Amino acid sequence: MDCMIVCVCNAIREDELRAVARQGESEPVCAYKALGCEPICGCCLDYAQEVIDDEHKRPARRNRSSVVVNFPRAA
Ligand code: FES
Repeated sequence: MDCMIVCVCNAIREDELRAVARQGESEPVCAYKALGCEPICGCCLDYAQEVIDDEHKRPARRNRSSVVVNFPRAA
């Protein structure tokens, strides 16, 4: 399992950030608060936003993969 750190100051892992994004958090500061911390240096906020935005796009990606294909019957 990947264990990428998004925020070094708070040791927030990407999987933790994605989990709070799935629970509805859409901004890094709110997501960090949900994880019981707050930004310190702020270096991570742009990347944290990218991760959150990516997580919110995931259901759309999953839906696109569920395409039904009807093959013609053999004669
Ligand atoms: S790296 Fe996230 S607040 Fe410093």
